[in-house]
Amino acid sequence: MSMNHYYLLGRSGLRVSRLALGTMNFGTAGFHAAYGKTEEEARAIFRRYLEAGGNFVDTADFYTAGQSETILGNLMAEAKVRDRVVLTTKFTNSVDPGDPNAGGNGRKHMIRAVEASLRRLRTDYIDLFLLHTWDRITPVEEVVRTFDDLTRAGKIRYAGLSDVPAWYAARAQSHAEANSLVPMVGLQLPYSLIDRTIEVEHVPMGRELGLGLTAWSPLGGGFLTGKYRQADQGLAGEGRLGETGSSGRSYTDQEWRLLATLEGVAAKLGVTMAQAAVNWVATQPGIASAIVGASSAAQLDANLAALDFELPAELRAELDEASAVPPRSLYQMFTPAYQSWLVTPGAKVADKPAEYAPVVRNWTADATG
Ligand SMILES: NC(=O)c1ccc[n+]([C@@H]2O[C@H](COP(=O)([O-])OP(=O)(O)OC[C@H]3O[C@@H](n4cnc5c(N)ncnc54)[C@H](OP(=O)(O)O)[C@@H]3O)[C@@H](O)[C@H]2O)c1
Repeated sequence: MSMNHYYLLGRSGLRVSRLALGTMNFGTAGFHAAYGKTEEEARAIFRRYLEAGGNFVDTADFYTAGQSETILGNLMAEAKVRDRVVLTTKFTNSVDPGDPNAGGNGRKHMIRAVEASLRRLRTDYIDLFLLHTWDRITPVEEVVRTFDDLTRAGKIRYAGLSDVPAWYAARAQSHAEANSLVPMVGLQLPYSLIDRTIEVEHVPMGRELGLGLTAWSPLGGGFLTGKYRQADQGLAGEGRLGETGSSGRSYTDQEWRLLATLEGVAAKLGVTMAQAAVNWVATQPGIASAIVGASSAAQLDANLAALDFELPAELRAELDEASAVPPRSLYQMFTPAYQSWLVTPGAKVADKPAEYAPVVRNWTADATG
């Protein structure tokens, strides 16, 4: 079973499941309350994930106003699995709107946030502590230094970033490397067949700098399960996007057509659309893990089978083409079409013959013929 396979996260020794469990819907308060789950409902989901062999669990202090962490803390203690789980949480969002230092990525808030998360999670260390969102204010050096201090203090094991521009992550990693501070090992970003934004900058950056990418909303919040249909007001169907309109986006004709392609691919493989969509994400270049969310243990069960089959190259190509967003402007220059301007057409630059040895050309002889 594929859930028994673990990947190293970025350039680190941390072994994580290729499908992580998202717990943004554990709890019934705050921003995510509209589709939140009670502790009892969450228990069934969490237990199913562990039974399948999963070890990578994602939460944040902001989710359901802290309830996600509290529930997770209870469930880990109850199942006695704290050490087995690779526990990820995040800071950034404000916990007190009246206090300018109760949010953002400054040192004061980072330390306050980690202490509060540790209390709610009923543990004395966090495996992977992530900056949730770039605050556009705090100097990157301050964040990296605080990550380093928290690691040395034993509060966290690894550091990473979520929802930041690629230049910011590259700056953080380079600063950490240059100053022998703890490196970032993970980068959590939105990625799915309906959102391929990160392919342009973040994926190559992550591969180059040793950051393992973890993809959030691999099903586009449920859109890619195929349970919604196009309607006057955007979309209709049973599920969190239909009931709450929480997707906060409209869907293009290309995205609705993509669903038809995905349905065809899934049918050829004899799997569900959700399984095909998650498989595509988790097996894309640079992706360490896809973070799946579920409303029930049955949903999760189905999604966890997403890596039990191989997506053949020709079917991947169908999905690639149906979901492709052509690169614009500058980014067109980094595609194969432009490569011929940089390298002589037909010249082999990659594979050298086994007997290859550099030749020092005799320019004088050449010139005289
Ligand atoms: N760093 C960030 O900024 C950020 C942002 C968002 C999420 N995340 C993380 O990523 C995790 C996953 O995000 P997500 O929940 O948006 O992921 P997702 O996997 O794209 O969507 C999950 C939702 O799709 C529906 N679904 C899943 N499997 C299904 C199935 N087999 N059949 C029918 N419907 C199914 C369920 O909603 P319904 O049943 O209600 O339709 C479920 O809650 C979160 O829990 C969180 O940990 C991080």
